[in-house]
Amino acid sequence: MGTKEKEWVRDADAHPWLFKEARAKRGYVRGEDWAECLVHALAGLIGVPSACVCPAIRDGRRGVLSRSVLSGDERLEHGNELLTAANPKYDKTNARNLGYTVSAVNTALAPVEAPPCMPLCMTGFETWSGYLMLDAWVSGCDRHHENWAAIRTVHTMRLAPSFDHGNALGFQVPERQLNSLASSDNIERWSKKGVNRYFRGKPGPVTLAAEALNLCAPRAAKYWLGRLEDVSEDHVQEMLQAPPDRILSEPRRNFIEKLLRTNRRRILDAIGPCAGRARPS
Ligand SMILES: Nc1ncnc2c1ncn2[C@@H]1O[C@H](COP(=O)(O)OP(=O)(O)OP(=O)(O)O)[C@@H](O)[C@H]1O
Ligand SMILES: [Mg+2]
Repeated sequence: MGTKEKEWVRDADAHPWLFKEARAKRGYVRGEDWAECLVHALAGLIGVPSACVCPAIRDGRRGVLSRSVLSGDERLEHGNELLTAANPKYDKTNARNLGYTVSAVNTALAPVEAPPCMPLCMTGFETWSGYLMLDAWVSGCDRHHENWAAIRTVHTMRLAPSFDHGNALGFQVPERQLNSLASSDNIERWSKKGVNRYFRGKPGPVTLAAEALNLCAPRAAKYWLGRLEDVSEDHVQEMLQAPPDRILSEPRRNFIEKLLRTNRRRILDAIGPCAGRARPS
């Protein structure tokens, strides 16, 4: 499943990890590997459960290892299968899908519980709304219907941790363009151009997050917005210092730092004042 070169390997405890190669264009390795690792760390700052990833090199190829979120007899049931179970007319083979809307996901996630690490009253959909808020924060536009899932056990279904975060943080912006994007205005313009082409109407990630959080109970929306508001810029800075300069250059660190600050403000401006109010009874 998916578009990148990948293979499953096992650690010393025989637990599976998925190696995903970072794609290269004309010999230049684009930064899906550092982007995926940084987003995993950023997800931790706002309490979004995400598959554990670490940078890896396999047969000389750069990539990431993503620790399987499954154990024992568990299996993943992807978004497209859940959407089809809720609406048999949903075309699960078509990723760019007119039936793929936030409210369809709300219905599809009705039988799906939140992961056990979430606050007690949080539902599966409310947790998923946090995944959309993460996307909006990191300019992630890849939340298609196979990039989220539920974990099915014999008796239960719970939302799987978020996964596949490589397409984020402007990993595709060439190094030479970073300086021209350095001003806050240019970064905001760049951020607003991002759309999620899989959802009906190709909305931007901030719009999607706002729509989802407005369908949540006010306490859940407030929880997510509070987590984002509480993020310490020092912690973000520390995370950006972790990759070596040859992987993450100084101009790119500056770009990402400003992008995260801009997106955080955009989310809080767009959602803050009215979050949770439009929830149906
Ligand atoms: N940590 C994980 N635990 C269990 N299954 C995983 C994990 N990471 C990925 N998978 C499975 O592997 C599939 C492919 O992985 P992933 O979505 O990360 O990359 P990709 O599909 O190649 O990227 P894209 O969606 O951009 O094409 C996922 O849809 C999911 O079924
Ligand atoms: Mg994927």
